[in-house]
Amino acid sequence: MRERTLIIVKPDGVERGLSDQILERFTANGFTVVQRKEMTIPRSLAEQHYAEHVNKPFFPSVVNYMTSGPVVVAILEGEDAVARARALMGPTDPAKATPGTIRGDFGESIDRNTIHGSDSAESAQREIHLFFGENPN
Ligand code: TYD
Ligand code: MG
Repeated sequence: MRERTLIIVKPDGVERGLSDQILERFTANGFTVVQRKEMTIPRSLAEQHYAEHVNKPFFPSVVNYMTSGPVVVAILEGEDAVARARALMGPTDPAKATPGTIRGDFGESIDRNTIHGSDSAESAQREIHLFFGENPN
């Protein structure tokens, strides 16, 4: 099914100038970039974005990290976009990610793993709304 997902090139990726290269991995795999913007995430938005993790030990550090510098946020569209984007990203921990995946090639550590991608169609809808508002395109 054709659907949308939200990805975020995290501060470690933007810092190293990887945003274009990372977005090209998606377009080379048939995704369309519907929207794209560079921003520094306000703390309240980062807290809402990671609300499911509010009680995890890493919550304060992931919020601090995601607000620490500019990120590139994009809405991607394609067949099975959510699952296919996650597959291109690789697992959360770059140490477990195979070469050829984004986290496998660029991730520095579990807390500097270069990219976020929505984990379900419902999360995608929620995150697209959080970052781009009611009616993105
Ligand atoms: P999670 O939703 O589990 O991973 P994913 O990004 O693959 O959906 O966690 C959200 C982010 O929180 C993860 O990308 C990096 C950070 N994090 C840590 O810093 N330490 C951890 O132990 C975990 C599980 C996540
Ligand atoms: Mg997640």
